[in-house]
Amino acid sequence: MHTFYRIGWRGKATRHIISIGDFDRRQIDRLLDNAKRIDAQKFDKNALFGKILATLFFEPSTRTRMSFEAAMARLGGTSLSVGSVEACSMAKGETLADTVRVVSGYADAIVIRHPKEGAARLAAQFATVPVINAGDGAGQHPSQTLLDLYTIRQSMKLDEINVALVGDLRYGRTAHSLASALSLYGANLHTVSPKGLELPASLLAELTGKGMRVTDYNSIGDAIPEVDVIYVTRIQRERFPDSASYFDVTSSYRITPETLANAREHAIVLHPLPRVDEIDPRVDSLPHAKYFNQSRNGVPVRMAMLQQVMQ
Ligand code: CP
Repeated sequence: MHTFYRIGWRGKATRHIISIGDFDRRQIDRLLDNAKRIDAQKFDKNALFGKILATLFFEPSTRTRMSFEAAMARLGGTSLSVGSVEACSMAKGETLADTVRVVSGYADAIVIRHPKEGAARLAAQFATVPVINAGDGAGQHPSQTLLDLYTIRQSMKLDEINVALVGDLRYGRTAHSLASALSLYGANLHTVSPKGLELPASLLAELTGKGMRVTDYNSIGDAIPEVDVIYVTRIQRERFPDSASYFDVTSSYRITPETLANAREHAIVLHPLPRVDEIDPRVDSLPHAKYFNQSRNGVPVRMAMLQQVMQ
C-alpha cells in the first residue's frame, strides 16, 4: 500500500489517489461495488452538496475532466477549473507546489493532469485536500484503470483473465496502471507493441516479480485468439522525441473486423480513447466493441472515487 496521508488544515487526514498501487484488491472491489450501486441510481444526490472540486488540467482532456465534473454535479457538488498553464498564474512562473497550496484553500479536492511523471505525487505533498491523479506524463492514470476494470467486470469476472495490451505500451499510462491492477487478479498479459514502444523494463520486472505471466507477440493476429480482453491504446504522439519516429510506427497495428474474425466470442475490445486510427470504425457496431460503454462508465466510477476521498 502506497497510500499516504497527511493532516490537512481542517485537521483531517487527507487521502490521495496517485497510483493504482494505492489500492489493494479488496479496496478496488469495494469501489467497483459502490460504482455499480451508483450506476443503478442508488446514491444520495446531495452526497457532496456544498463541496467544491478543482480540476487542474495541464494537458488536453475530454473524458477525464468532463466525467469528473459530471460526477461532481451528479452528487450535488460544484467544480472549478483551470483550463491550461497559459490560463493561470503558472504562466507567470508560479510553481506547481504554490498553485496546489493556493487551490487547496478554494476546493475540497483537486484532480490534476500534468505532462510530467510524478507531478501528481508532488502536488499531493503540498496540497491540504485530497489529490487525484488524472494522468501524469507516461506514469499512471488510476481513475481510468478503475473504470477499465469496471467495464471488464460488466462482461466477465476479473479473475485469471487473458488480456492483450496493444499499442504504445512505453508511453501509455493507461496500460501501465491497468497492467499493475490486473496483477492483483491473476491475469495473464499478452503484449503487442511496435518496436521501441514495449512495456518499460522496470514495470515488466515488477509484474513478473508478482508472478504475472507476460507473453509478447510480433503480430496482433497471433494474440487475438488467446484473449478475453483486447485493450488498445493510441500512439502517444505528444511524448515522442521527434515526429519522424512517430510516423515510423503509426500504422503498425490496427483492429478491424477482419483481425477480430478469430476472436473468442465473448472477447471485448476496450480503448481509453481518444482513438486516432487504431480501431476501424466498422468495429464500433460489433458486439466486441465496449469502448463507448467504457467512457460512459467514467461517471459512476469517478462518483465513487469522489465520495471516497471527500466524505
Ligand atoms: N481516457 C482519457 O484519459 O481521455 P481524455 O484524455 O479525453 O481525458
